Amino acid sequence: MGNIVSPSILSADFANLQTEIERTENYGAKWCHIDVMDGHFVPNITIGAPVVKSLKNAVKSKLDVHLMIENPDIYIPDFIKAGADIITFHIEACKAPGVAEKCIKMIKEAGIIAGISIKPKTPVSDIEKYISLLDMVLVMTVEPGFSGQKFMEDAAQKINDVQKIAKNKGKQNFIIQVDGGINAETAKICTSFGANCFVAGNYVYKNPDIKGAIQSLLQVY
Ligand code: DX5
Ligand code: ZN
Repeated sequence: MGNIVSPSILSADFANLQTEIERTENYGAKWCHIDVMDGHFVPNITIGAPVVKSLKNAVKSKLDVHLMIENPDIYIPDFIKAGADIITFHIEACKAPGVAEKCIKMIKEAGIIAGISIKPKTPVSDIEKYISLLDMVLVMTVEPGFSGQKFMEDAAQKINDVQKIAKNKGKQNFIIQVDGGINAETAKICTSFGANCFVAGNYVYKNPDIKGAIQSLLQVY
């Protein structure tokens, strides 16, 4: 299985999302990463389900929704209805018992890809028991909230633990996504730990050579 590249629209021109996403599709990106922030789980506010719904009809990319919000169980149905193809929520946002299981169940029952994300300081042991139920884990390599931050290599090392657990549990084609400060160099480090799916905001959308940027992430060795 080749790498998946998911350019984050947080670094795109929000006035021209369709054209911006099409530019990445032309060079081989198959996913489009949509950062949903609520001003509570993270200090920033971005966009919600209506934008996902509009993009559904406007682009070919799989809509990769990264929920950086409190109470993900309340909002997941809206994103399913809007047409998300992948939904990832944060384990740190699941405070009450049973919430993470409920979120996974809703996403899986919709027949789409289910992911859990961990912030840089959250240990893999916090999500270990859910891995057998999931299709993907997103390892954050910056504190969620903003694009353009510096990659944290010590956070990336957790990819290795996720990979080991997924293998032990016999997961086939498990997706290990990495998000935060990704470029050709940091993607190489993450590949060595076992990542196979790269989110990149600034590196793709602010790059004068968008084609070269995407290709460098598609073929990391
Ligand atoms: C950060 C978001 C990222 C962000 C990545 O909270 O989850 O998806 O857009 O941006 P870069 O690649 O510029 O670090
Ligand atoms: Zn993200």
